[in-house]
Amino acid sequence: MRMVEIIEKKRDGLALSDAEIKFWIEGVSNDSIPDYQTSALLMAIVLKGMTTEETTFLTEAMLHSGDIIDLSAIAGKKVDKHSTGGVGDKTTIILSPLVAAAGAKVAKMSGRGLGHTGGTLDKLESIPGYNIELSSDAFIKQVNDINVAVVGQTGNLVYADKVLYSLRDVTGTVNALPLIASSIMSKKLAGGADCILLDVKYGEGAFMKTVEDARELAQTMIAIGKNLGREVNAMLTNMNQPLGNAIGNALEVEEAILTLKNEGPKDLEELCLVAAGYMLFQAGFVDSSEAGYDLALETLRSEKAYDVFLTWIAAQGGDISVFDDLDAFTKATYHADVIAQKAGHLHDLKALELGMVSTRLGAGRETKDDIIDYKAGIILNQDVGNEINVGDKLATLYSDTPINEQHITDAVACFVIDNDAIEKPQLIADVL
Ligand code: URA
Repeated sequence: MRMVEIIEKKRDGLALSDAEIKFWIEGVSNDSIPDYQTSALLMAIVLKGMTTEETTFLTEAMLHSGDIIDLSAIAGKKVDKHSTGGVGDKTTIILSPLVAAAGAKVAKMSGRGLGHTGGTLDKLESIPGYNIELSSDAFIKQVNDINVAVVGQTGNLVYADKVLYSLRDVTGTVNALPLIASSIMSKKLAGGADCILLDVKYGEGAFMKTVEDARELAQTMIAIGKNLGREVNAMLTNMNQPLGNAIGNALEVEEAILTLKNEGPKDLEELCLVAAGYMLFQAGFVDSSEAGYDLALETLRSEKAYDVFLTWIAAQGGDISVFDDLDAFTKATYHADVIAQKAGHLHDLKALELGMVSTRLGAGRETKDDIIDYKAGIILNQDVGNEINVGDKLATLYSDTPINEQHITDAVACFVIDNDAIEKPQLIADVL
């Protein structure tokens, strides 16, 4: 088989066979195919697309390019959830102990953030002592003992994705449905869970800009999961404004704690309850997602989920005494309020730009080697749809390095205020 013929076939809009896709991914993994040929094929895929069958072949080939986690030593169905990336998305920190407290097994691997989206690992590492590396025996034992563990992805999970993603990043080929679907699903499948709940974001702060595109991505990922023997559901959720009020690492952990103590923002709580309902249904604890929602609500209100959260963090070495004084845990050296200069109604809260402001305050990485300021971030005081008066507080910025006028000007520009009243946007458009 010759790589140039595979590239030409895709260039001409034809479907690749399982054998051709395997040949490519094996060549990517053993370095026998040069980057320029892989880049050419990636661009041909962006332009000509792939059928769901080809995307399934690609996912399967990628899945076998590195370690596959064996969770069979954990009794019962293992549940996992994945968000396609958003701003202020701290749901893993809430959902994992929530479904674990209701009986489900969560053996989860999470990633770091890059650019405007935060990563769960960075958020967890804002807790002093939290250990993201457990041996595989310790990981399995912890899930068997307390139902939940969240660690970093092992270095060799889906090796081909690391090569492909770094090429996609610099060749304008990140944003293509078959490439996103295979990248996400190969990692989820390699992670070993039996049931997967996807939170596919759409809107300004997400990869998929419209709900229609998010639906197509979700349907493709569900089909891949089914073809490869897993149970997959997908929520389509709005990322036209950040989720909850907090953006930044320690600030998001604080908001997750408040939610687990029934004092969190309602949009975040609702999303977690719906997601937990589906996960508990998938795992067979209830016979409908609605019954799962009720079980999740009861578990949240009883604060059992908060107790499991504390047990989980302590089991992984985290110092839970820092949660006794959440103000001290999140207190950054500098803070500055963002004040409305214009009256009207809040039409848009630019999630992607707010993520970038938070990154520039120190909460995220612009390059892989940047060091994170765990206390940096933003607390939002307004939601889309709110009526705003001149002088109202829109947000507060936090950082351990001085905050300048540019940060504030950039933050003000994220709040789009107009005269007409508008309805509050719907958070969950659909669940498939
Ligand atoms: N997240 C991933 O893991 N891969 C993609 O390609 C896009 C989002």
